[in-house]
Amino acid sequence: YLSNWVPAPFNRTYYNPSSKWDEAHRKAANYLKNWTIEEKVQLTTGLGWEQGRCVGNIGPVPQHGFPGLCLMDAPTGIRLTDFNTAFPAGVNVASTFDKDLMYARGLAMGQEFRGKGANIALGPMTNMYRVPAGGRNWEGFGADPYLSGWATQMTVWGLQDAGVQATVKHYIANEQERNRTTSNSQITDRTMREIYSHPFLKAVQADVASVMCSYNLLNGTWACENSELLNGILKEDFGFKGYIMSDWNAQHTGVLSANAGLDMTMPGDIEQKSLTSYWGKNLTQAVQNGSVPLERLDDMAQRIMASFFLLHQDNGTFPEVNFDASRPRSITNNSHVDVRDDHWKLVQHIGASSTVLLKNVNNTLPLKAPRKMTLIGSDLAPSYKGPNGYSDRGGDEGTLAMGWGSGTCNFPYLVDPLEAISLQARKDGTTLDWWFNDFDTGSAQYWATGYDVALVGINSDSGEGYITVDGNEGDRNNITAWHNGDELVKAVAGVNNNTIVIIHSVGPIIMEDWIDHPNITAVLWAGLPGQESGNSLVDVLYGSYNPSGRLPYTIAKKQSDYPANIDYVNTDVIPHPPVEYKEDLNIDYRHFLSKNITPRYEFGYGLSYTTFDYSNINMWCHDDGVDQGGNKRDFVEERDVPSSSTNTTYPSANCNTTSPDGGSTRGNSTGKLGSFTLKSLHRTRWTISVDVTNTGNVLGCDIPQLYLGYPPEAGEPPKVLRDFNRIQLEPGATKTVTFELSRYDVSIWDVVKQRWVIPNGDFTIEVGRSSMDEKSIKTYWCFR
Ligand code: NOJ
Repeated sequence: YLSNWVPAPFNRTYYNPSSKWDEAHRKAANYLKNWTIEEKVQLTTGLGWEQGRCVGNIGPVPQHGFPGLCLMDAPTGIRLTDFNTAFPAGVNVASTFDKDLMYARGLAMGQEFRGKGANIALGPMTNMYRVPAGGRNWEGFGADPYLSGWATQMTVWGLQDAGVQATVKHYIANEQERNRTTSNSQITDRTMREIYSHPFLKAVQADVASVMCSYNLLNGTWACENSELLNGILKEDFGFKGYIMSDWNAQHTGVLSANAGLDMTMPGDIEQKSLTSYWGKNLTQAVQNGSVPLERLDDMAQRIMASFFLLHQDNGTFPEVNFDASRPRSITNNSHVDVRDDHWKLVQHIGASSTVLLKNVNNTLPLKAPRKMTLIGSDLAPSYKGPNGYSDRGGDEGTLAMGWGSGTCNFPYLVDPLEAISLQARKDGTTLDWWFNDFDTGSAQYWATGYDVALVGINSDSGEGYITVDGNEGDRNNITAWHNGDELVKAVAGVNNNTIVIIHSVGPIIMEDWIDHPNITAVLWAGLPGQESGNSLVDVLYGSYNPSGRLPYTIAKKQSDYPANIDYVNTDVIPHPPVEYKEDLNIDYRHFLSKNITPRYEFGYGLSYTTFDYSNINMWCHDDGVDQGGNKRDFVEERDVPSSSTNTTYPSANCNTTSPDGGSTRGNSTGKLGSFTLKSLHRTRWTISVDVTNTGNVLGCDIPQLYLGYPPEAGEPPKVLRDFNRIQLEPGATKTVTFELSRYDVSIWDVVKQRWVIPNGDFTIEVGRSSMDEKSIKTYWCFR
């Protein structure tokens, strides 16, 4: 589809935040030289809820020629406007395991924000799929920090290459909606460093302009006034050079939050429309009376202006705001600028490449021009209310292509499965019937009997906590299919021996009631594909697109198999309900592996219409000149160290623990700034290669995934994802795929030493088709 694709910019450095920041900060310092305290304060304090045309507004400072800032949701496309594209959800792009597509989506989205005059995009959202029912999981990038990390980095690059400031959110430990503005997430230091802050580190390495601190408390302190999080981890350890904004009304104090590192308060008022603020005049006073040092205010203002300059938003070409988010239907403030370009192509492409083929018995799929087909279930049809019938998509009627809440945008249109399949039926000479009442299973059976194929569509929805849908207050109350889905599937499978199930869902659903039913011949997991939903589905169903999507989370056999679930406690019982991240490093597949629980479908799983074979695992050490026996070797160039066969073992003699450079020895404030993003820690040091062969009969894409197994003493889960690639192969063709590892990638966070440490002993390097692939190919290595 994509003639105008821009590939991901891999040749860029992605360790330290780039030196472009220095220039931007110099400009900002110079620009702000003659600003008064009041003027600088103006940069830090939003105008208040709905006091401007955007979701967040920093007012203009005309005496200095500053136009102000427009901040807009959402991670799926620009929100509360029109003539915009509704992109596939974050979790879908994660499901492609394709770094180029992650970047392309960010770039296309960035072009739309810019076209509307929005300086700042409030995305990507990179909280983790910790609990399967978490309401906003779908906005993010799945259940593994490296998958999320890559998707975050690529999205930030894409958005910012379009000239828009990206905002990575919600920092941090904001993994559920239940009590989201009162709960106290409790995480250990190591888990924080290795899992939850990793995607934020990647954002900083991609030069993200802004970070949004979250609603919750972290280990007893509000995230937006938690100095360890803001001043410590972000600004000092990561060397973050942009600004930190609060989530909407997530600020609780003026002086404390300022001194803890917060740089911008949003939307600016204490309560929506109260026209009072912790900052504004109060911040001016706090600076004047010395409670907040003047240097701190200068730093806030400089960070905000540096980000503006970093993205060249001062160069006179940035469009003026041309819509009104608070009054989307107002005639005067809306120019209805069409910013969509041909982004629909990218949406359709990501929709198809994110679709996961879970089951395919006897090559049922792709469909081969069936004569008589039937469509069962409201998820395959449009909603009678239209695609935007519920405000912020807070309803589940008709086909599901997006969750609900501030992470949504308006659909310009929505191609539902019925529409797309009807067009295909015309081409194929297929006759089509349907039944879309999910609760009348008797009639569903009538309309499923005697057809060559019965497609059943079911779904499951969730979103942000300010909207309740069918009793689900953001988070799902359970993880089964909505609208009688299980009964509907069973009813159809009871009468049609070629039943194909299509699932649109925000996250895992339990499918044990029917998944093994012999009449269910295929299952397609389509996630939340955005505006081209039906077209993407048809591409996969009929084989013009060979599925290559992989699950970005594990689908369990029962909900209690997950390492963590939401505690549906009410705040009136406990004031700050704890959310204890007790599973520590063992989120998702890591828990299933360590507890030896067999899931239904594991993280990374997905079938294809062809098959792939792996051979020849190789590994290179780039430049330390020491081989596996610890002997000094005489090379500095990249070279092939081990021989090229499966399961080669290397001795771990003389393999001693090493401490890479990264650590946060704070207090000794010199020289430690940005120690987590040092080049020596992040540059590629080892390269792994594997040959992948398409052993089937059709063209297809494969996603080889690299998992690392630490030595047992390291206290890590049995394996952890570190890299992945998506490659396309003609039948019979072989390609060599490479993966890269840095010292950071093979380290653990040593809580005593407060540094990254490479554990002593043999590691397993494993390349497989999923996190539990029994046919994965392995080698062993001792890193130093
Ligand atoms: C609150 C949400 O948590 C955040 O993601 C969003 O950007 C703001 N509201 C603004 O709508």
